[in-house]
Amino acid sequence: MLTNQNGNNTYSFNIDKFYRNYLKGPNLFRKREALEPSFIPDELPHRNSEIEKIAGITACALKGDVPPNFLCYGMTGTGKTATVRYVSQKLAQHCTNNPPWWIYINCTVVSTPYRILAHIYNTIVGREKIPATGLPKDVILKKLLGLLDQKVKNSVCFLVLDEIDILIEKKGGNEILYTLTRLNESLDLCRTSVIGISNKLKFMEYLDSRVTSNLDEEEPIVFHPYNANELADILKLRAKIAFHEGIIEEGVIKLCAGLAAREHGDARKALQLLRKAGEIAERNQNKKIFEKHVENAQKDIDKDHIVEYMLSMPLQAQLTLTAIFLLSKYTREHIITSGDIYDVHSELTNKVPGVKQLTHRRISDYINELALSGLITANTRSMGHYGRTKIINLDIESELVERVLSQIKKIQDYKLLNYKPILLQTDKVKVKNIVFKKLI
Ligand SMILES: Nc1ncnc2c1ncn2[C@@H]1O[C@H](COP(=O)(O)OP(=O)(O)OP(=O)(O)O)[C@@H](O)[C@H]1O
Ligand SMILES: [Mg+2]
Repeated sequence: MLTNQNGNNTYSFNIDKFYRNYLKGPNLFRKREALEPSFIPDELPHRNSEIEKIAGITACALKGDVPPNFLCYGMTGTGKTATVRYVSQKLAQHCTNNPPWWIYINCTVVSTPYRILAHIYNTIVGREKIPATGLPKDVILKKLLGLLDQKVKNSVCFLVLDEIDILIEKKGGNEILYTLTRLNESLDLCRTSVIGISNKLKFMEYLDSRVTSNLDEEEPIVFHPYNANELADILKLRAKIAFHEGIIEEGVIKLCAGLAAREHGDARKALQLLRKAGEIAERNQNKKIFEKHVENAQKDIDKDHIVEYMLSMPLQAQLTLTAIFLLSKYTREHIITSGDIYDVHSELTNKVPGVKQLTHRRISDYINELALSGLITANTRSMGHYGRTKIINLDIESELVERVLSQIKKIQDYKLLNYKPILLQTDKVKVKNIVFKKLI
């Protein structure tokens, strides 16, 4: 049998035993996917007025008329995508003949003008007929117009552009939006209607005025953040589908709702907390979900955010953090000053080709940013005769920092995490940026 026992027996995790126990353990979930973001429930509490507005605008499609283009706005997790999908399903149920088509385009995934046109075409034909690259755009557009008239005929085709703001940042974004919102002028039978969804409230400011006038034929539908009570109602309904009866202890739903309400009323976050809490309880062989599981779930999520944040920082900020990590790794009692960080950062940049050494000022900016993001604390302290300096402490576990930094290619390739700063090398000394070997 394979086990991962280590030699000195300080800690050994027996994976076989873990899986055997897990399988024998309590089964809390009845339908885990009900807590996934893609799940559309039969009911969407607290979205009545938004459902009513979208149903009102799109209803004329039932009689073969063309609904106006419109936009949905709101912070992340306020149910925009779920509501539009919900209404599309309901509309389809009420269509006896000539049901409308719904083409759903997630602009974070399908984001270039070419790929959007190809995606619409391929979705209608039901297979990858247009290759991912290669054809001229006007050729695809012509083909698409022909297909819409031939396949959708005199029905309506809704084009849902989710995360539409991503398009504006891309080359040709305004142009493709203009094309999509004016397709009807080039169609004989079929009629199209664009629904844009965005969580960037200001994105309209970046739109070309010709596109704006095509998109705001209707007042935008604004999705307000949920409050804690509303989130609790959403969670209760989802929990009923997702978990077996009676396994959620009192207070769990309220805690998840409260924590998510603090983060701008994000239902996705609330559901994620509940799902993670359930998974933690299950892994620990508990038969019920308690508040402590939610607290641990929150810690896990915070950790995930920190990891994501560190990985997305610019390389110079990552190197500044590496300098702090190295200084605290080798001398736990040593006070770390911004001057030390500057020195170690410069040594690190010398090891990585193509990376510039920064000024004291820039390093100080990066230190402030790292402090703002909660990765470190930086307190200014008077050093008497030497003036003022910043005293820096790493604020998260150094094992986590090391694990994340070791995933960054340049840090890994140049083995920066094994580097010992000159300041801490007992046999060397640095004077005016020149390194000398100590004689004694
Ligand atoms: N009123 C509601 N009732 C039930 N579930 C909801 C409700 N609102 C949102 N949800 C659920 O919360 C999650 C996030 O919702 P959704 O994906 O619609 O958010 P969004 O506003 O589109 O966010 P983003 O801007 O980040 O895309 C989904 O799992 C969705 O089913
Ligand atoms: Mg969405």
